Amino acid sequence: MSGGPDVAGAHSLPASFEFGVATSAYQVEGGWDADGKGPSIWDTFTQTPGRTAGDAAGDRGCDSYARFDDDLAMLRELGVDTYRLSLSWSRLLPTGTGALNPAGIAYYDRVIDALLESGITPNVTLYHWDLPQALEDRGGWPSREVVDWFGEYACLAFARFGDRVQRWATLNEPIAQWMGYGVGRFAPGIADPRVGRLAMHHSLLAHGRAVQEFRASGRSGEIGIVLDIWQREPATDAAPDVAAALEGEDNGFRFFLDGLLGGGYSDRIVERLTAEGTMPEVREADQELIESPIDYVGVNVYSRVVVSAESDLAGGWAQSVEHVGGNFLDNGLEFYPKAVYDAVHMLLVDYRWAGPVFITENGLADGPAAANAPLVDDERIEYIAGFLDWTAAAISEGFDIRGYYCWSLMDNYEWATGYRQKFGLFRLDPETFARVPKKSAHWYRDVIADHRSRRDSGAGDSPECSPNATGASSPL
Ligand code: NOJ
Repeated sequence: MSGGPDVAGAHSLPASFEFGVATSAYQVEGGWDADGKGPSIWDTFTQTPGRTAGDAAGDRGCDSYARFDDDLAMLRELGVDTYRLSLSWSRLLPTGTGALNPAGIAYYDRVIDALLESGITPNVTLYHWDLPQALEDRGGWPSREVVDWFGEYACLAFARFGDRVQRWATLNEPIAQWMGYGVGRFAPGIADPRVGRLAMHHSLLAHGRAVQEFRASGRSGEIGIVLDIWQREPATDAAPDVAAALEGEDNGFRFFLDGLLGGGYSDRIVERLTAEGTMPEVREADQELIESPIDYVGVNVYSRVVVSAESDLAGGWAQSVEHVGGNFLDNGLEFYPKAVYDAVHMLLVDYRWAGPVFITENGLADGPAAANAPLVDDERIEYIAGFLDWTAAAISEGFDIRGYYCWSLMDNYEWATGYRQKFGLFRLDPETFARVPKKSAHWYRDVIADHRSRRDSGAGDSPECSPNATGASSPL
């Protein structure tokens, strides 16, 4: 090994377990107006002064539109089984609907083909926050028409790429629509809770519509949705803390899970939003569309949030405002790797979800921003190792976690914080855009290689090695 902890739990991962890394189109591609691409709401937002840290626009991302070969080289060096990326809607359909951009199609054709030729499974997210600006101008996510727009786009993606892509996600973290329309901290920068809730509801409808388009396309493969699950822990048993924690979860992920897997928004959510005057209009057939059966749940998990009503300035949103909890990392986040184990338990206990799960994101940003990220990043290694151990623990109890994607392949454009937060296994030189491996890249490469050699030797396949044969009882 290249140094860093051995992941004890990784030895018990099933042979079929997949290791990957993740990125998203806006955060890495750049080429914001290249070759016929239309602008997205994030182009507009980050090009508007006052919206992002240091007014850094994401126009260049990591320049992956021009440098995908460099990205591929990194993926090959890591030896990942799978790469999670997203499509830029406005690169394919510059005005969101109607006319296609052939250069956009050609770009993703090349990316997908190159991945497959390297034996890397593409995991493609249709929407990672970058709505075409032209559709925002027609009403954006708060308009119910978005369901048809998204359906058209999804249909196109399945038709063009579905012969090769076998793993799809509809939306990444639809909570971003709340941040963009309800809070105003994300694109398009609208701070109206009523509009934000509408955007959230329409996101679920659009998701359901895309799932239906996928089934209708007759393409093989699997489709799911990616949610970020930050469970809230009340700081004490006192009623205000407990209430703040529940509210935080309702706002953060239960709204979506209730719709997708819980039969509809809970009475608690409906009552509160109604009282606030922000309950979106739910029509008769909406729930049926939203709960269109999915093949897996994608979980983005980074930590938990310990909520104290006293220090809770934002209804359970802010992360452990006064550092309630413990074991903090250099970047201020609580190191709580059990979060991944807790998340799958929560899905089972609260939503009866016993189906496949992918950990679609997990990773760590460095501590206080430096222009160039440190190459010796032991904390990142400890962090990932901790999450992999808890992932293995959940699998050994019978949970069907099929893979893990580290966020992120390289330092990239972290939304409203610009390039300041760096999550990469590879450093991105801010001047030259050169990619340089950090210690964590070498360590992750070795973890993957170790898993592969066990897989090749047949370990992890034999019944006597399977978790349930060793006496662990399935929770399912
Ligand atoms: C959530 C998002 O999906 C991704 O875009 C973001 O960069 C990471 N997590 C880190 O914040």
